[in-house]
Amino acid sequence: MKNLISSFLLLLVPLVATAESGLHCAKSVFSQPNVRFMQKVNSSHANAVLGVKRLPAGLKWNARRNLVEGKIKKPGTYVYTITCTHNGHVCEERVTLNVQNNLPLPLPFMGWLSWNSVEGDVSETIVKSVADMFKANGLFEAGWNTIMMDDLWQARQRTDDGKPLPDPKRFPNGLRPVADYVHSKGMKFGLYTDAANKTCAGAFGSYGYELTDAEQYTQWNVDIVKCDYCHAPTERDSAIVRYRRLGDAFKAVSRPITLYICEWGDRKPWLWGAESGGSCWRVSADVRDRWTCEPGGTGVVESIKAMKDLALYSGVNRFNDADMLCTGLHGKGKSSNDLCFGTPGMTQDEYATQFALWCMWSSPMALSFDPRANTVTKEDLKILTNRHLIALNQDRMGQQADLISDADSLVVFTKDLENGDVALSVTNMANKQLEATFNFSKIPALDANKRYQCRDLWTGEKLSAVKRSFTTKVRPHATRVFRLSK
Ligand code: GLA
Repeated sequence: MKNLISSFLLLLVPLVATAESGLHCAKSVFSQPNVRFMQKVNSSHANAVLGVKRLPAGLKWNARRNLVEGKIKKPGTYVYTITCTHNGHVCEERVTLNVQNNLPLPLPFMGWLSWNSVEGDVSETIVKSVADMFKANGLFEAGWNTIMMDDLWQARQRTDDGKPLPDPKRFPNGLRPVADYVHSKGMKFGLYTDAANKTCAGAFGSYGYELTDAEQYTQWNVDIVKCDYCHAPTERDSAIVRYRRLGDAFKAVSRPITLYICEWGDRKPWLWGAESGGSCWRVSADVRDRWTCEPGGTGVVESIKAMKDLALYSGVNRFNDADMLCTGLHGKGKSSNDLCFGTPGMTQDEYATQFALWCMWSSPMALSFDPRANTVTKEDLKILTNRHLIALNQDRMGQQADLISDADSLVVFTKDLENGDVALSVTNMANKQLEATFNFSKIPALDANKRYQCRDLWTGEKLSAVKRSFTTKVRPHATRVFRLSK
């Protein structure tokens, strides 16, 4: 009943109050006590004047960059108002900032999802062997710690009393021992469901069983649930109601369970996902193991298109998710291979670009290799355990990098970091080597008159200090990443 009432009330609230005014900002934001916080806002009208009212102590307005920044010491819920004046009209947006020590997803998860290469073979043995591999090959030590089962872990149907049930052959001991094993390795355990009667691959979904499922997940000791949207009504309002029912059910149980929304970006979940109880949401259709995926799939090129304008809506506990990483697949996946012309797989520079961009964006990262196939090479592990890049992904301020330019086949992003450093990346979209210049006067996060220490994040090498601009060479489809410190 409580679920029904809250879902109904949510429908009465105008969803995109900012649309006409041109003001764009996230309405529910999160931070941890004493950790630097940042919220960027903007307007689609170039001459609009943005500002803020009733900021809590510890935060200030940066009028040059149109952002709120600072640190809050005490946990609590704080409210402030973003204002936008355009052609004499003023509009306002109320923002709720939740400062907490125990947020469901303070940092993007780094882990593994079974779908791309394992599909319906997911089993107790496979989950355990991924956890073992993470321990043995240095991935766990580097921060990879969340093992999630995707679709088809389920039995053909629920139990007679409606409870969810794993496939008895592949999970002969049930799910609790599998979760316990993953936890005994210091990792988190996740599974998958759908906000309809059926999942994408035809197993039972959670619609109408939200609380039953949340209770069972609690008994299994599940930490995170990816929730898909196949077989559900297409309009945004239905999606909001359906995810809210799950979000409310997860809040009602004794175990903290993170809701990972997967409706492929079709209904702009960055505008309502946090309000529905989600901590991250997919922004695109499924990635494919390709640089570009024609005619209609998502290669790295298409992931950039999907993510490049969404930085405003990402932050701590509200991450935009660019989907699974294909690094380590080398064309050997299953579902990561369809939809596009040509042979699957990417070059090592392309796999490295995928990883570097996911780090710049603070996107959740899930590897998707098959532990039986041994396709992850030493070169892959070198990419995936790069601590300088992982530090960008796991930066506690949770800022997604802003697009600076995508002209002349060079895509430039900059990312604000908690300690005041700024990361710069440049991706070469062309098929030949290019030279790229970072011009500080075009990068709002940098001061064009200041001198910065500069580190190449792929090699870890400290370079000479830089001022105003610097130039670098980039191989075709590769990404150079630098960290600048004052
Ligand atoms: C959808 C999702 C994928 C995967 C499959 C499983 O396509 O987008 O990530 O979970 O369903 O069926």
